[in-house]
Amino acid sequence: MKAVPSKDDLGRQPLILAPLRGVTDAIFRTTFAECFDGVAHAVAPFISTVRGSKVKPKLLRDMLPERNAHLPVIPQILGKDPEEFVTMARALFDLGYDTVNWNLGCPYPMVAKKGRGSGLLPYADRIATFLHAVIPAMGARLSIKTRLGRFSDNEIDALLPLFNTFPLREVIIHPRTGVQMYTGRADRDRFGECFALSRHPVVYNGDIDSLATFTKLAKRFPGVSGWMLGRGLIANPFMAEEIAGAVLTEEDRVVRFHHFHNLLMARYAAVLSGPSHLVQRMKGLWQYFGRPFANGYQVIKRIHKTRYPDQLKAVTERFFTDEARWQSDPPEGRLLVPLKKAS
Ligand SMILES: Cc1cc2nc3c(=O)[nH]c(=O)nc-3n(C[C@H](O)[C@H](O)[C@H](O)COP(=O)(O)O)c2cc1C
Repeated sequence: MKAVPSKDDLGRQPLILAPLRGVTDAIFRTTFAECFDGVAHAVAPFISTVRGSKVKPKLLRDMLPERNAHLPVIPQILGKDPEEFVTMARALFDLGYDTVNWNLGCPYPMVAKKGRGSGLLPYADRIATFLHAVIPAMGARLSIKTRLGRFSDNEIDALLPLFNTFPLREVIIHPRTGVQMYTGRADRDRFGECFALSRHPVVYNGDIDSLATFTKLAKRFPGVSGWMLGRGLIANPFMAEEIAGAVLTEEDRVVRFHHFHNLLMARYAAVLSGPSHLVQRMKGLWQYFGRPFANGYQVIKRIHKTRYPDQLKAVTERFFTDEARWQSDPPEGRLLVPLKKAS
């Protein structure tokens, strides 16, 4: 039997902004929540554990409550050492966070090879030892974000019964393996099997790229405790509103996207050191922002050639005021991967 959903899970299942390191920092989350509706909370990109008994304030800056006033957020920690994890979790608890998420999904070889993130998934014994040590000591409640395994999609079969023996807040499942990175498709059949095995609230995460995809999944898994949206929502920031039933004109979308973009850029300009950092950050975002537009590839290409903020701004202003063509029914998967010339 499933645990009773917590208070914010009652009623409509929440839509949750996924953590994307390098994208969904506090400025992005806050600006997003000011400009778009429909997201209940976010999970923040991971903070790595550090040695020693003190956490440098710099590491916690993004999680300061005053920087996260517009959207509730759950901090995430990446690490494998129980003592270091508890130190970080307590520092976050002291900032006022009652739940902390453990990253068991990071697929990057630099992380996984060191037995962190998805690199821990083949080792149920290490995970058991970790949870025994951490849960009673950390103050806050623990939620877990996981993939199906590192090398194989059945490593999780040994983990879910183990998770069931601990008082977890929820388990967020992205049904891919670590070695898969972001290739192939999220495996919905395996998600369904894992969902059935968990006694904890389970959040679905992976490849939600349109209202149609969401609707299909919602019909198939009506009992999940939430839906986590990443790349699709960053590319189409109206997706949570669409899921909630909003009908938006193309003009609305372009005007609101324009406003969001300029606000975000102004806020980054105020905190990033130097114009090249700003340009780099905006170029990274445009890898996503271009995707919902029929002429997105062309604007990304022009943005890519800019070197200074003023040049970038000139390109984006022209795009939003004269050129942007919203694609209302993008082909499946278009919002999830970088645009190619022909798209
Ligand atoms: C650039 C990038 C950075 C990511 N950073 C994190 C992270 O810090 N923590 C985490 O748990 N997942 C991270 N993820 C994974 C996403 O949270 C999410 O699980 C994944 O993108 C699948 O969901 P989606 O198909 O809705 O994007 C990252 C993904 C990408 C593409």
